[in-house]
Amino acid sequence: MTIPSKLRPQGATPRGKALIRIGAASKSFALPKGGRFDAVRNVTLEVNEGDIFGLMGKSGAGKSTLLRLFNLLERPDSGSITIDGQELTALGKKALRDARQNIGMIFQQFNLLQNASVFDNVAFPLRIHGSHDKAQIEERVRACLDLVELGDKADTYPAQLSGGQKQRVAIARALASKPAVLLCDEPTSALDAETTRSLLQTLKDVNQRLGVTIVIVSHELDVLGAICNRVAVIEDGAVAEEFALNDGDETPRKTALGRELLQYARAANASATSAAKEAAHV
Ligand SMILES: Nc1ncnc2c1ncn2[C@@H]1O[C@H](COP(=O)(O)OP(=O)(O)OP(=O)(O)O)[C@@H](O)[C@H]1O
Ligand SMILES: [Mg+2]
Repeated sequence: MTIPSKLRPQGATPRGKALIRIGAASKSFALPKGGRFDAVRNVTLEVNEGDIFGLMGKSGAGKSTLLRLFNLLERPDSGSITIDGQELTALGKKALRDARQNIGMIFQQFNLLQNASVFDNVAFPLRIHGSHDKAQIEERVRACLDLVELGDKADTYPAQLSGGQKQRVAIARALASKPAVLLCDEPTSALDAETTRSLLQTLKDVNQRLGVTIVIVSHELDVLGAICNRVAVIEDGAVAEEFALNDGDETPRKTALGRELLQYARAANASATSAAKEAAHV
């Protein structure tokens, strides 16, 4: 399928190049009784253009904090964040606001504006940024809603939608500014199994059809195994190991989570292969 040019991310680098570089980033929080807690410790990571990159780890491991460093929702105490050639940590306020147009984000609880229609939710970031006229906003919002198959829901309100539909509105909103990167924090954790499958398909489409690079945090190994091509295991705020999925690499994994994830990924791969064979009547 050809991708309409209006939906393609701007300024994307060729597939395979490092699009995101996290350089020795650390983040600590002040503890109420004094002292500090190291939530992210000296993390260095690269995510390539076109990746669906998973961050996995136990609750409290620091996955969400690390993801929030990617777009500077949390500013690292030290280290650098570079996305699409721009070192975010070196930018002033206005330049950072512009650079963030290149990074969409979705959350477990959708974070939609309850008193705004679906259309206005998706239009919100474009209106806030202020560099689009009314006709451009209308065209862009309609294209994004069509992409997530909610073209007929523009005038409804979040309360009238299912969880899966709400998350698809959040995806449309995150894609409104044509970002090269989509950050997802537990995007399917509030959804049932069937809705999860269809949402993962939407994320895959966004990755494959639009070329958007995805970084996804999840504690659900079947989710990560089904869509990621690369993952990092986070333990105590640091990268315990990082590896590719389904590339035939048989190197034993260092962490129990890594070993478990490989089993999920192989199962997902095998079931996709047998479904394809069935469809082809082989
Ligand atoms: N704003 C904050 N102030 C103080 N401590 C924080 C703050 N945000 C996170 N933390 C602490 O940092 C650690 C990592 O939190 P984080 O939310 O990144 O974990 P997580 O891996 O996403 O966990 P979960 O799977 O439960 O979402 C936790 O111990 C948490 O209590
Ligand atoms: Mg979290």
